[in-house]
Amino acid sequence: MTFKRVRKAVIPVAGFGTRVLPGTKVIPKELLNVVDRPILSYIVAEARDAGIEHFVFVTGRQKGAIEDYFDHQFELEAQLEAKGKTALLDQLLAELPKSGEMSFVRQMQPLGLGHAVNCARDIIGDEPFAVLLPDMVMDAETPALSQAISAYEKVGGNIILVEEVPADETHKYGVVAVEPSDDPLRRMTGMVEKPAKGTAPSNLIVSGRYILQPDIFPLLSQQVPGAGGEIQLTDSMVSLMKTQSFFALRYDGETYDCGDKIGLLKANVALALKRPDLDKAARAALSPYFDR
Ligand code: UTP
Repeated sequence: MTFKRVRKAVIPVAGFGTRVLPGTKVIPKELLNVVDRPILSYIVAEARDAGIEHFVFVTGRQKGAIEDYFDHQFELEAQLEAKGKTALLDQLLAELPKSGEMSFVRQMQPLGLGHAVNCARDIIGDEPFAVLLPDMVMDAETPALSQAISAYEKVGGNIILVEEVPADETHKYGVVAVEPSDDPLRRMTGMVEKPAKGTAPSNLIVSGRYILQPDIFPLLSQQVPGAGGEIQLTDSMVSLMKTQSFFALRYDGETYDCGDKIGLLKANVALALKRPDLDKAARAALSPYFDR
C-alpha cells in the first residue's frame, strides 16, 4: 500500500528556552552553537536528508535571527570571496534554502507545543507532515527523520520516534504505552505528558520527531491546556489515537537534548570528537579534564 508522501516539516522555534538562560536572553535557543554551527543547522540538514521539501518555522518575538540565518549575508559573502576563503563561502551557500522552500509563521505567545504546531495548519494543508523539535539533535547513521519516514512508508498513520530512559527519569518527558513486542516499531496504545513519578506506562519517551496526519489540526484547535498549563501536542495525539493508528519507533541513534545545559555540553563534546577534522585536537584539549 502506498501512503501520501511526507513533503513538509514543521519546526517550532517560538519557545523561551528558559533552561539555558541567560544564553537565550537575546539569542534564540535554536541558534546556540554545537561545535561550529547552530543547533538548527543540524535539524534542517536531517530533514533535507529525509526528503523534506518545505520547512515551516513557527517563530515568535526575538527570533528574527533565525530567518536571517537562512538568507544571504552579502557583506560577509563578499568578504570571504575577496579573501579567497571559498571553502567557507561554499559551506554557507550550500545551506541556503531554495526560493520558496521555507515559510515563517508567527506564534504570538508561546502557549505550548500543540499551539505552535497548529499555527502551521494553513501552510501544511491536507497532507501528512513531520514535526522536528529543534533542540533535540539526533546523531544517527540513517538520519532519525529518515527512519521515521521509512516506518511511515511501511505502516502509514502516525509515527513517533521514541527512546529508552531510566525509569526514574520518565516524569520529565512525554511517555508512550505500546503493545508488548521486541520489534522496534510497535503499535501505541496510549501516551502521557510528564507522568507523575512511578506512574509512567513504559520507559519509552517521545524524542522529538513525529509524522502526523493533518487530522490533528481540528483537535489542536480545540485543545485545552494540559500539563504545565500549556496546549500540549501529546493531548491531541491521544485524542487522534481513538480513530487513527499510532506507532512508536525505537530509533537507532543518539539524542542530545540541547535545550538543557548538560545536554548541550554533551553534544558539543561528542560531536566534536566524531568530527574527523577536529577529533585529535578536541581529544588533546579535553583529556586533562577527564580525570579531575
Ligand atoms: P521546550 O519544551 O523545550 O520549551 O519546547 P522551550 O520554551 O523552548 O524551553 P524551556 O523548557 O523553557 O527551556 C520544544 C520546542 O518547541 C518550541 C520551542 O521553541 C522548542 O524548540 N515551542 C515550545 C514553541 O515553538 N512554542 C511553544 O509555545 C512552546
